[in-house]
Amino acid sequence: MLLRPPSKFEVFGSVRFYDVCEVVSLSSMGVRGSSDVFGLDRDSLVDMASKTAIVVPVKNEDLWVFEGVVRAVPLASPLIVVSASSREPVDVYSHEVEVVKLISRLSGRRAIIVHQRDKAWVDVLAKAGLGDLLDGGNVRYGKGEGMILGVLIASWLGARYVGFIDSDNYVPGAVVEYAMAYYTGLAMLNSRYSMVRISWPYKGKLPTDDMIFRRKGRVSIHTNSILNAALSSIRRVETDIVKTANSGEHAMSLDLALKIPWAGGFAVETEELVAVLEQCYVDVEFKGEPCPMAPEGVRILQVETRNPHIHAEKGSEHLARMAAESLGVIYHSSLASNDLKVRIRATLIENYHYEEEPPQPRIYTLNHVDPGKIVSEYLSLSEMAMDIGY
Ligand code: GDD
Repeated sequence: MLLRPPSKFEVFGSVRFYDVCEVVSLSSMGVRGSSDVFGLDRDSLVDMASKTAIVVPVKNEDLWVFEGVVRAVPLASPLIVVSASSREPVDVYSHEVEVVKLISRLSGRRAIIVHQRDKAWVDVLAKAGLGDLLDGGNVRYGKGEGMILGVLIASWLGARYVGFIDSDNYVPGAVVEYAMAYYTGLAMLNSRYSMVRISWPYKGKLPTDDMIFRRKGRVSIHTNSILNAALSSIRRVETDIVKTANSGEHAMSLDLALKIPWAGGFAVETEELVAVLEQCYVDVEFKGEPCPMAPEGVRILQVETRNPHIHAEKGSEHLARMAAESLGVIYHSSLASNDLKVRIRATLIENYHYEEEPPQPRIYTLNHVDPGKIVSEYLSLSEMAMDIGY
């Protein structure tokens, strides 16, 4: 892949936020291109891929769609599937394990599949000081919670980077493109605390009779605009730099992943940005506190990929919940003025008929834990997890 480096970035304290950069060529096959673009030669691409674990969260998606995603994750990257799928009346998880086993054995790739609700997590996480992840007898449901388990496993594997790709993606080619954008973008940033977030050219949801190619996601359009409004009012300079507040497809360095606070459920992607902006901008400039990622600071790159992002339609209630959880992050953060809170509530009522106060995100921190110890202990206890091809 060849990327055109962004011509513009904005600075918020120690956070450097790059504008969206363009994919010049989807498959450069190791050719570096002109001096105006950034691409990796073949060896560097394989090296970046092998250092990047790809986490696929899954909860009861169509098996053939999940299988397309599993087949598309480039072989050089270790694959980590974190499933919250049902065990009964149909044991969907066992089907997922079989798919991962088959494809991994055929292709010879390293893959780990775990279940989020596996009892083997419980004591291990409680002992490690991550008891908040539990809801009594199990790890809580929630996409964010699944991603946290993925981060722990990626760290245990010794990965330098971790990338996330949803399992309800109907276009395997898009999955390949996201992975290439992660490898190339993270190499281009070449920084200890780095993040690459995907912005889609078009989004669509199946079923096909309802297919519209939208330039903007129905939740991200609001989250981006509210986060930009928050930053504009704090800095007193208008900005529209944030274009990927809800990006489920994103990757970051493990150094960053283990330092930032994480949120549960669908608050997760918004929290990544809000936490970094709170800790390395607002707290630094207005409270004189040090940024935990200093002196390097955080670099965030946004990449607009070319494949349309086609994923499953899950209905208006699902969208409302996602919007409330996501906007709840900004609402309850130090970025939100009273006026912004009013605007968030009005946005939720107007667009999603969501009348309540948005929920406070559940926040988890990983900077005190030893992921290697947690995951080794978990794998030694679990009867559900599979580690294939090591
Ligand atoms: N492990 C795990 N645990 N996975 C989950 C859970 C869970 O509790 N809930 C959902 N998932 C998986 C789904 O199977 C899917 O692969 C992915 O997480 C995203 O969940 P969806 O329910 O399909 O969300 P969406 O497609 O509507 O929204 C996605 O895109 C948004 C941006 O447009 C998500 O990635 C959002 O987080 C994102 O903001």
